[in-house]
Amino acid sequence: TIGKVDFDKPLAIPPLAESTVDADGTRVFALDAQAGATEFEPGESSDTWGFNGRYLGPTIVAKRGEHVRVDMTNSLDEPTTVHWHGMHLPAEMDGGPHQMVEPGGSWSPEWDIDQQAATLWYHPHPHGETEDHVSRGLAGMFLVQDDAEAALALPREYGVDDVPVIVQDTGFSAEGEQEANPRGYAGGLGDELIVNGTRGPYLDVHDEVVRLRLLNASTARSYAFAWSDGRPMELIGTDGGLLEAPVELDHVRLSPGERAEVLLRVTPGEEVVLQSRMTPEIAALVGPVAATNGGTDSFDVLQVRAADELDPAPAVPEQLNSIPAFDEAEVVTTRTFELNDSFEINGEAMDMGRIDETVTVGTLERWVVENATSVPHSFHVHDVQFRVASIDGAAPPPELAGWKDTIFTEPETEYELLMRFEDYSDPDTPYMYHCHLLWHEDQGMMGQFAVVEPGQ
Ligand code: C2O
Ligand code: CU
Repeated sequence: TIGKVDFDKPLAIPPLAESTVDADGTRVFALDAQAGATEFEPGESSDTWGFNGRYLGPTIVAKRGEHVRVDMTNSLDEPTTVHWHGMHLPAEMDGGPHQMVEPGGSWSPEWDIDQQAATLWYHPHPHGETEDHVSRGLAGMFLVQDDAEAALALPREYGVDDVPVIVQDTGFSAEGEQEANPRGYAGGLGDELIVNGTRGPYLDVHDEVVRLRLLNASTARSYAFAWSDGRPMELIGTDGGLLEAPVELDHVRLSPGERAEVLLRVTPGEEVVLQSRMTPEIAALVGPVAATNGGTDSFDVLQVRAADELDPAPAVPEQLNSIPAFDEAEVVTTRTFELNDSFEINGEAMDMGRIDETVTVGTLERWVVENATSVPHSFHVHDVQFRVASIDGAAPPPELAGWKDTIFTEPETEYELLMRFEDYSDPDTPYMYHCHLLWHEDQGMMGQFAVVEPGQ
């Protein structure tokens, strides 16, 4: 379990990634994967990895309609990749296990940003090594902006009233060295919590309304985020963009890979703590084995300290987005994905040489994901944002009514997802779907699909 912390360090804010614009209008970023050392506590140095730094990576911001390129270099002494989690892009640019970058090598994917404003992220995806590379610190946020979101009265001053909150658990030995945690069924659960790489973080705010972009970048642990004084979590966005309207919740549950945008309203001088809090209701939901995901732990995450004088905030609009439902009559193909106790999907472990599913570009697909095990998993699909049509036959709750690319799958539960893979076809280069509990992914709880032209 995660212990008590003193909130004695200001929350680190990942720097914004610098970019240049080429003569042809391409916005170019640079990411270098490198090894370093980080003092999570003063005087206690841990070996860590980061992009352009010692731990985590800069926040990339790009606008819908831009053509972007990322010049990635690998200064590590082993191969890695960078995957753009939640991004709609050609399979060759996806940064999965087929786009390995050798030590000393480089890779320059480029693509059009063509999706709505959203909180995405990036992390390595080397087959069998993803848990290791992410837990060492290779991860960062990728924020997509668009005109529709920019027109809304929402907080958007990066690091001030629009704040990345990258939540990870990690383990430290007595010497402060970051070490592999003992693995439970879900993978390694750490006993120290870090946010943006800060252990024991507080955040000073001086606005009445603050937007927090929560990212569960942990390898195995799931969270049930809630405020210490019981005020509602005001959810405005999920993985792939804004909800149609804000939703007030007791808690926001995130499994590894998922994101949530929430608003916090503060009064002058107050302090409130973001916690991960297990309630009996959630415990009942995730079942008796929830502990395997750290689901029964309750602990503090981040203290927010409001200034004595706050800048007023405009009223948050009642409508944030418009999310028309897919017409199920248009479904062309229904596929079933059964997650089993041997870390397999449909009875098979990942094989990089095998394409498991072939999807026709532009057609509506129904993916039925069946968690046939007694423990939670986290199901993620590359290239697409999907909608949850039903959970065990019932309509999804409002927090799952928007765009998603990763979903917490409860034990013995069936999820019906609708999605359309648009634009990019490539019969030779697959995308991935997998459990985002990274140890499960590494064990082979992953499959490959190719998107092809009609008739291919
Ligand atoms: Cu965030 Cu295939 O991963
Ligand atoms: Cu899993």
